Amino acid sequence: MSDPKIPKLYHRSTPHWQQEQRKSFWQLNENKTSPFNTRPDKLEAHAEESLSINGRLYAQSNAGQSWTHLANRQAFYRHRLIPHQLVDVNERDTTTTLFGHKVAAPFGFAPIGINKIYHPKGELPVAKVAGELRLPYGLSTAGSSTIEDVAAANDAGRHSKDAVQVEGANNDEPVRFFQLYMPHDDELTVSLLKRAVASGFTACILTTDTWQLGWRHDDVATSNYAFYRGIGADMGLADPVFQQRLREAGIDPKKQPEEAGAMWIDNVWHGRAFTWEKIPWLIKTWKDLSGGKPFCIKGIQSVADAQQCVDIGCDGIVVSNHAGRQVDGAIASLDALENIINAGIGEKITVMFDSGVRGAADVIKALCLGAKFVWVGRMWIYGLSIMGEEGVRHVMKSLLAEFDITMLTAGFRNIDEMKKDRLESYPRSYTLIAEKAKL
Ligand code: GLV
Repeated sequence: MSDPKIPKLYHRSTPHWQQEQRKSFWQLNENKTSPFNTRPDKLEAHAEESLSINGRLYAQSNAGQSWTHLANRQAFYRHRLIPHQLVDVNERDTTTTLFGHKVAAPFGFAPIGINKIYHPKGELPVAKVAGELRLPYGLSTAGSSTIEDVAAANDAGRHSKDAVQVEGANNDEPVRFFQLYMPHDDELTVSLLKRAVASGFTACILTTDTWQLGWRHDDVATSNYAFYRGIGADMGLADPVFQQRLREAGIDPKKQPEEAGAMWIDNVWHGRAFTWEKIPWLIKTWKDLSGGKPFCIKGIQSVADAQQCVDIGCDGIVVSNHAGRQVDGAIASLDALENIINAGIGEKITVMFDSGVRGAADVIKALCLGAKFVWVGRMWIYGLSIMGEEGVRHVMKSLLAEFDITMLTAGFRNIDEMKKDRLESYPRSYTLIAEKAKL
């Protein structure tokens, strides 16, 4: 347990995240207990109890036999951190800068759609907590709240009395990303982007691995698709161009929520691939509308695609296999990261990472392998499912504390020290027991 005087003894550019541990250990004396256990397997099991069957299946679903999900987890296991001793880690710094924005830590909230199947308030409490903790937030086009409401919730978090102040950051400035699933209707795309710009989103991330959802057995077998049940189309229903499309089709969303929901999501996950030819138009459109804000592509797994992103003018990429939900039997996203970094892409554009992260050590490993930033997904979804806003806060504050404490115990003073020489990496043929990989 850490000394309660620590915050007075050492200067930090953020709150002393590690004090969360002391608070947890001490609280029993005040007849309090932790909201729930954040150990990833227990967190998931707890969320299972709180969720509807549909929410549970959707949160847990992966493509095919879940081999990619397994590969994602195994790849973390074959890299091991090498701790350093007697390093002056007392004034360690968890902050990093992403596209010019100083943030509390090198991880954020990955874009995940349709949060209303996990909690009635959907994306709003999540965006609020992200703002409060000054961690970047990603809003999915498949989100079940409007762009404007999410931005307002994110701002409310930033302006709340508990908002984290990061030294040297412009704490008034939002750090939120609009994740685009691009419709085959340019007017609708432009309308969504305009709304994102008007709502103060700081970057656009186009996802290119999900023109259509992967084949997920459980969801298919149970007809598990909320949009077709008239739930979750709020982002589309609030869009002036989409409202016009509904009128043209003679659909009244109040009377025909299923048809309206289906028409919206069939624009989002339309099953019709775009190709590289479309990307210059999208980059130019986003840059013109936003005054030059960053544009990234998410879903990159091959070196050739990463190079193409550089050549075409992207500011960044997210190395992601959609947490194993799209292509079964694909390479681990962490292995893809290694390939892409070895090809020098990280020296040209911002390389971010996503897929399979379950703890602070995973974040550090991805950073050591060359990622500039890491997106975390299912863990906060489980927190949201268990306890709404408080659950999201508990998961992410715990992750911040775990990250901070791992820096202390492994001897990292700052993010820049997270380099490849701090890892021992075993061959790719190295595997672990399947049960362990399910975390
Ligand atoms: C959507 O992004 C999904 O993975 O279901």
